[in-house]
Amino acid sequence: MENILLQSADYEPTLPVSEKSNPLTRHIDRAPASSIVKMLQACDAEMFLEKSQTQYQRLLSEEMVKTLMEVAERVRLILKDPQDSLVVLSGCGTSGRLAFFMASGFNRELQRLNYAPVYSYVIAGGDRALFSSQEAPEDDPTLGALRLKKVSEGKKRVLFVGVSCGLSAPFVAGQLDFCLRHPDVYTPVLVGFNPAHQARNEPIPGCTLTFHSVVTRMEELAKTQKAFLINPGLGPEAISGSSRMKGGSATKILLEVVFSASFSRTPVTFNLILQHMRSYEKALDFTYSHSQEIAALMEAAGRSLQCGRQVCYLGWGSLGLLGLIDASECKPTFGADHEDIRGFVSGGYKELGNNEGDLTLMGPEFSISHDDFLDGVLPRLTDDDTVLLLYSDSDDIDKVAKLAHRVREKTSNIHAAYHQTAGDAAAKQDDINKLCSSTIIFTWPQETPERLQHLRELSTKLLLNAVSTGAHIFKGKVFKNYMIDLQVTNSKLYRRAARLMQKLSGHSESECEEALLKAIYQVDKLSEDIATCSLETHTHTAGKAKKVVPLALVCLLSGCSIKEAESRLEQQPIVRKAVEACLKSS
Ligand code: F6P
Repeated sequence: MENILLQSADYEPTLPVSEKSNPLTRHIDRAPASSIVKMLQACDAEMFLEKSQTQYQRLLSEEMVKTLMEVAERVRLILKDPQDSLVVLSGCGTSGRLAFFMASGFNRELQRLNYAPVYSYVIAGGDRALFSSQEAPEDDPTLGALRLKKVSEGKKRVLFVGVSCGLSAPFVAGQLDFCLRHPDVYTPVLVGFNPAHQARNEPIPGCTLTFHSVVTRMEELAKTQKAFLINPGLGPEAISGSSRMKGGSATKILLEVVFSASFSRTPVTFNLILQHMRSYEKALDFTYSHSQEIAALMEAAGRSLQCGRQVCYLGWGSLGLLGLIDASECKPTFGADHEDIRGFVSGGYKELGNNEGDLTLMGPEFSISHDDFLDGVLPRLTDDDTVLLLYSDSDDIDKVAKLAHRVREKTSNIHAAYHQTAGDAAAKQDDINKLCSSTIIFTWPQETPERLQHLRELSTKLLLNAVSTGAHIFKGKVFKNYMIDLQVTNSKLYRRAARLMQKLSGHSESECEEALLKAIYQVDKLSEDIATCSLETHTHTAGKAKKVVPLALVCLLSGCSIKEAESRLEQQPIVRKAVEACLKSS
């Protein structure tokens, strides 16, 4: 029943599905780990609900499967002409990271099959955004178009896949608009998870577009297959607006299904696509069949964050990259420090093949290899830190064992998530097991290697999303199912923060925005200058401040000064409790 309710237009009617709060997770902030995992499972399962249960197109709807078949045929054409053609994947934040993840993964796969690589990626903010939070470029449509133009220079045929889970990022709107203005070369494909009429309609400063206006033009062209819209409903995220979760998972599922189909030797059929999608549904169920172990890991990570220590993911291959992606999203979502949850991948930049190469010199956030971990993190590890190994039977088990030994010398709080195939259990893996205080062993049925890898990746993504979300819930960074300490570093996040304040405080829009600005600029009275600054200036300034939303809420609810609010939050670092205390006394 709730599933139907949350898809209905009457539930939080002014919000698009991707921003609604999910009734299933209303009390996630007070739940024990085992219940949190159950809630996440129920939320993720909504991805595969049939259309008859909801109003909108779904992942498995007939129309959706047909669109995926058509896009796969377009990719097939590109594969035949790699010299003059290209597939460009692009997005902001996690959507851009997954664009990189899939572009590099499928290029590797093509090389293995003796095809020329045809995939490129563009991420808002450039490669530094792969591993760190860079939200401001998301607001720039011109930059998006320029980057697309640059990466596809000289190509005669380009299939552009723009991902914006909320149908909202101006960066992607600018790229889609560019494609629509150059139809001789570009065919645009939009991936997102709201119905078209819910695309963001807020004017973008300095241009005449809105995301909504671009989508409307695309809908018209979609009738003649000159543009494609892949926008099934997934239901609201477990943490409201956290599109890295279901949005990211569904992006990965949809694009993998399309790209895999495009180079299969057999014709792309309806059933082929449908069966492939169903295999991800099974992978989801299979992952959550380990819910008790996931909950235990979540608790360990939560304990580390609660006592101000850190969680490190040490991964191999694409599983390691998923660790980096999961960690990088914690800053904008939970106001986390980059040290709180960190990812490291074997081989570092050498293995990644990103556009801009080695970024290590850009700062500590960009140290991503196991060697960086050994040099910079291992010496100060204690039992209060949590280390999670992410590996599979296709990785070099000796190397995993060696690293596990080094970690074990410093902390007993070492865990592992290991993927193996039924019947192929590695004996050496037992040694690693003995070093770890817990190991989740995922034993997968036999499958083609490529598909198996994709399923293991989805499984790892779900596991990591659960661990990092749960750990931050325990740290008090979630109130009900809202991210209470989100960063306010672009227009979408600013609007989300203002809306959240209205919802929690019951104050008017203008009062909430005033409180938000006071917290951003650290003043008790807004000057004329501040009040007239652009939204871009506000979000830029917000990037330098910490705990903006909690500060604004405490001030608004208690009428105290910024200084006083700061000291209250220092005395009660569990943001949820600090805000609750104010709500009770207001
Ligand atoms: O603005 C930051 C952010 O919310 C990220 O957390 C997210 O991954 C990114 O935007 C992309 O959002 P969308 O896919 O909806 O454009």
